[in-house]
Amino acid sequence: RVQPLTDAFGRVATDLRVSLTDRCNLRCTYCMPAEGLDWMPLDSQLSDDEVVRLIGVAVERLGVREVRFTGGEPMVRRGLVDIVRRTAALEPRPETSVTTNALGLARTATALAEAGLDRVNVSLDTVRPETFHAITRRDRFHDVAAGLEAAQAAGLGPVKVNAVLLRGVNDDQAPELLAWCLERGYELRFIEQMPLDAQHGWSREEMVTADEILAALEERFVLVPAEEPRGSAPAERFLVDGGPGTVGVIASVTRPFCGACDRVRLTADGQIRNCLFAREESDLRSALRAGASDAELAERWLAAMATKLPGHGIDDPTFLQPDRPMSAIGG
Ligand code: GTP
Ligand code: 5AD
Ligand code: SF4
Repeated sequence: RVQPLTDAFGRVATDLRVSLTDRCNLRCTYCMPAEGLDWMPLDSQLSDDEVVRLIGVAVERLGVREVRFTGGEPMVRRGLVDIVRRTAALEPRPETSVTTNALGLARTATALAEAGLDRVNVSLDTVRPETFHAITRRDRFHDVAAGLEAAQAAGLGPVKVNAVLLRGVNDDQAPELLAWCLERGYELRFIEQMPLDAQHGWSREEMVTADEILAALEERFVLVPAEEPRGSAPAERFLVDGGPGTVGVIASVTRPFCGACDRVRLTADGQIRNCLFAREESDLRSALRAGASDAELAERWLAAMATKLPGHGIDDPTFLQPDRPMSAIGG
């Protein structure tokens, strides 16, 4: 019998986002400092068996239908392909996806597809190698481009590209990024920067808004709102120049979509986060390691949803950034 993950506002979480590691092989300036962060000790991290067990509880008992693997960078986790294979073998089979920076994807795409992965979303903020280096502090643009190509060739599509625009760095590059993605058949989405950086440097004034991005795109393209209902998707989509290409904006800050949220998150150290911006977590790892049954784990998970807030509260004067940065939540 399935008990849905319903919160106090009647929203039901059917989309589980699983962070597999807080480590990353890039150092995006808007995410973490050049020297990296104090990574999670490996014994705090769930093992592959533990992760798969918790995903099984979510799918079999709690009605989760989509599982997305995130990081840090999920491809630095050795067990990724195996975790995907075991997740895709669950009943009823969940849709599976990975959000990745695509480093190493050229090598792994086929294995991921064979393991049963449905699709990938790739983070890419620029198509200029020099800007890529300025943002990520690594000279790897061509590896990302190759990873994208391999993902599409392996059938891990529709391949989506996520881009964050930074004022004075790449905010003049929206149209060229879109042209590049359209040419290759990738679905580009621009994301408003959220206050989740490890350095706590976010400011609303610096953030490039969805309105600004759309205005810049409309200088070069004709955008028409896509017709299909948006549902709980964070992205608002537009048909570009009559289609079939599209572009999206994920305007978490200026056009919040929390009211339709269908997400719940599991961190690499086994904590349930009922919101990206949650200030409290629920410790499933301790319960798991103390021998809890699947039914007990499901009970704890249901209880963790009860405190989900109606929205992220970024506009509240009392807003406080969560202790965990983006890189340890996975977005
Ligand atoms: P698709 O199902 O493929 O459209 O994926 P997605 O857009 O839900 O996920 P992805 O991992 O590609 O995330 C894209 C951006 O949306 C990231 O910056 C995420 O942090 C952001 N995002 C994802 N889920 C949420 C959410 O629940 N709330 C907010 N505010 N942002 C989210
Ligand atoms: N706000 C919005 N998006 C962010 N990302 C990383 N940090 C932030 C932030 N503070 C993006 C990455 C990646 C996705 C998972 O989240 O660029 O595309
Ligand atoms: Fe890594 Fe993603 Fe942070 Fe970039 S934004 S450093 S890819 S975790």
